[in-house]
Order: sequence, then structure tokens, then C-alpha cells
Amino acid sequence: MLSIIVAVAENNAIGKDNDLIWYISDDLKRFKRLTTGHTILMGRKTYESLPNGALPNRENVVITRNKNLVLEKCTMLYSIEEAIEKYTNSEEEVFVIGGGSIYEKLLPYAHKIFLTKVHSNFEADVFFPEIDSNNWKVISEENHKKGEKNEFDFSFIDLVRF
Ligand SMILES: NC(=O)c1ccc[n+]([C@@H]2O[C@H](COP(=O)([O-])OP(=O)(O)OC[C@H]3O[C@@H](n4cnc5c(N)ncnc54)[C@H](OP(=O)(O)O)[C@@H]3O)[C@@H](O)[C@H]2O)c1
Repeated sequence: MLSIIVAVAENNAIGKDNDLIWYISDDLKRFKRLTTGHTILMGRKTYESLPNGALPNRENVVITRNKNLVLEKCTMLYSIEEAIEKYTNSEEEVFVIGGGSIYEKLLPYAHKIFLTKVHSNFEADVFFPEIDSNNWKVISEENHKKGEKNEFDFSFIDLVRF
């Protein structure tokens, strides 16, 4: 089964110039805690944005249309259909970690969203799709104020599909 994990601004911004737009240390810690030991699924551009390549202690799966591309310490998938077939009915929880194009294509197949809402608006070139409140319900919400290691106010919001 597929779970989405994402940090989204009030205006749905998630990235600019193939990078994140904010620094929220507690969000990175939560990301690490939730995904460690699991499979993470990402688009080729998100992989390129990682400073040290594949993330440790996780099975890194990268989606690309380039059949010649093989990345170190990664499992390669060459279509979204392959990802859907392999993971939507799998027993294990597989985390979709971005970016925009992969979220958009896999949101309809996800059963859970681990959302970090960043309470500000940003200029961006990649956005998260609208979350339709008819399909998703909030099961937990935790609000946090900005501080030394967290640049903006933010909330951790978990949603499950109705
Ligand atoms: N805020 C957050 O939580 C968060 C999380 C992750 C990423 N981001 C941000 O999101 C941005 C990157 O997102 P993005 O949308 O530009 O790129 P992306 O989704 O990470 O990767 C796009 C690439 O995935 C491959 N791809 C997409 N659809 C495919 C399909 N149907 N079949 C096969 N391969 C497919 C293609 O790779 P090829 O070109 O190699 O064929 C495509 O260029 C960055 O700014 C990053 O920092 C934000």
C-alpha cells in the first residue's frame, strides 16, 4: 500500500529549482523516523535533489522514463504503471516521497497522507495537487510554532482515505 509523505505550503508549494523551499528540522526528523526501514518511492528529479544520493537504511526506488539509467543503491522503475502494480496492493507500507509529478500520479492510489503543512506562502515551481476533503479525513493534527531550527510555523497532519 502507498502512503504519501510531503511538506506543503499554504499555497500548495513544495519545491523550487529542484530543492525544498524551507528548513524545518523537526520535519526532516519526522521524515526520517517514519521512512527508515521502509521502501521509499521517488521521481528521478527528487533523487537528483538528494545531497548524498540514496537515503540510508531504506530501499530507494526511483522512477524514470530513461531505460538506460541505473542509479547506485537504487531499484529502478521505468513507468508509473509498474509502481502502481507493484505497490498499491502490497502488504508493506511504501512511502511516496515526491516530487510533484509523482505525487500527482500516485495520489489517487494512496491510502494515507503524512502531511506537514507549512503555514506560509512561497514562490515555487512545483506544487502538490489539491487534497479533496470528500476523499480524505484528518485522523491526527499537531501544531508547532517556528523556532531556532524551524523557520516557519507548521502542523503535522495525518489523513486517511474515506
Ligand atoms: N516538499 C516536499 O515534501 C517535497 C518532497 C519531494 C520533492 N520535493 C520537491 O519537488 C521538486 C521535484 O518534483 P518534480 O515534479 O520536478 O520531479 P519528480 O516528480 O521528483 O521527478 C520527475 C521525473 O520522474 C520521472 N517520471 C515522472 N513521471 C513518470 C512516468 N509516468 N513514468 C516514468 N518516469 C516518470 C521522470 O524522470 P526522467 O526525466 O528521468 O524520465 C521525471 O522527469 C523539487 O523541487 C523537490 O525539492 C518536495
